[in-house]
Amino acid sequence: MGNLVIIGAQWGDEGKGKIVDILAQNADIVVRYQGGSNAGHTVINDRGTFVFHLIPSGILYRGTLCAIGNGVVVDPGSLIEEMDHLQGQGVKFGKNFVMSQRAHVILPYHKAIDRASEQSKGSRKIGTTGRGIGPSYADKMARIGILMGDLLNPSLFRKKLEENLVEMNWFLERLYKVETFQVDKVFDQYMSYADRLKSYIVDTTTLLNRAIGKNKTVLFEGAQGTHLDVDFGTYPYVTSSSSAAGGACTGTGVGPTMIDAVMGIAKVYTTRVGSGPFPTELTDEVGQGLQERGKEFGSTTGRARRCGWFDAVVVRHATQVNGLSSLAVTKLDVLDGCKELKLCTGYRHGSTIHKDMPADLDVLTGCEPIYQRMKGWTASTTGATSYKKLPAEAKRYLARIEELAQCRIDMISTGSKRAETIMLRNPLDCSRRRSRLTGH
Ligand code: IMP
Repeated sequence: MGNLVIIGAQWGDEGKGKIVDILAQNADIVVRYQGGSNAGHTVINDRGTFVFHLIPSGILYRGTLCAIGNGVVVDPGSLIEEMDHLQGQGVKFGKNFVMSQRAHVILPYHKAIDRASEQSKGSRKIGTTGRGIGPSYADKMARIGILMGDLLNPSLFRKKLEENLVEMNWFLERLYKVETFQVDKVFDQYMSYADRLKSYIVDTTTLLNRAIGKNKTVLFEGAQGTHLDVDFGTYPYVTSSSSAAGGACTGTGVGPTMIDAVMGIAKVYTTRVGSGPFPTELTDEVGQGLQERGKEFGSTTGRARRCGWFDAVVVRHATQVNGLSSLAVTKLDVLDGCKELKLCTGYRHGSTIHKDMPADLDVLTGCEPIYQRMKGWTASTTGATSYKKLPAEAKRYLARIEELAQCRIDMISTGSKRAETIMLRNPLDCSRRRSRLTGH
């Protein structure tokens, strides 16, 4: 078994949680490498429905180690809340859970600035989750961030907090005209979080690399999606982290030569939450139908997701920037009963045809999708586990997705439960012999 990165190929919410959950049974370690509690990964199994925000989706397996990498921004309060909730559902936390001492901390002022900044933007707002993600990553890049490891060093933490609050309170009071924060209160609150979390804060980079050295299998669990990536997404309507495959290296300290394959997860249609361009968006009853049948409401914020036809330009772009080795397509059953389906093969902007994703937001916003129409199917695919038994039209639709996305499909999800899956090939079957010794 090899080391595999799981990436959202669209704008997030592609169903990564379910795919990671299935693959985690054969993995030794599952590691999150970016994002924070803005993510919402849902896993449904015979023990119930589990929603993860920060904790890797592998936590349901006893023998799997779950790690939060250095590239993640951790809100300790919401992490503890999530752990408590999961413990109430019977999940155990002990030696099976670790987080990086280098992961950055989300502080209350990050959340306050996130919300106030969004409000001040009016119609230009990003539509963030309000979880303080952007401001926390901004501090990381400005070299004033606070690390999880700093929480274990109270005097260092207090010094950094005092310095940061001078600046942050100035913004909150003068620019945004909202409440400010007191050093003592925040310090005491975060010291109590540290007390609860200290046994989990370790050097995850050494741990991961040692495990890989012993041929352990690592799954890198991406959050959000390629088109929310701060470099490759529809900037500035993106999240503030590297959700594309490159983030798996910088967000864990595992080098690219240690990664064997990258799997992209894509719905057989497209959704997006928050603001920003979405060429194949359907604002009519067809889009509403997808939203209802696909239960397209966010698991973190409860917001309704915008829905549209499958956009091959988007997924082809994901194939390119992530170096995808295969795809898992999800929610095939949601298209059951659609008489006609449309696939976007390219964009028209004035007299120009775009086969690749335009970087210019004005161009992308002005693009008209070019559609290929395909016949839908009436038979149910819900819960299908055999590719052979799928309706011929569904097979043709999937084959066309492979062709347009320039990437083979390894897995097809036909329902929310673990078993409702067609496995064409096991993407973890990708191990490459790896040795730093020359053998001379
Ligand atoms: P932020 O990550 O909260 O800063 O939000 C930035 C953008 O990313 C907004 O459009 C959010 O709706 C979107 N976003 C963040 N996390 C997710 C996710 O897990 N799924 C889908 N969209 C997300």
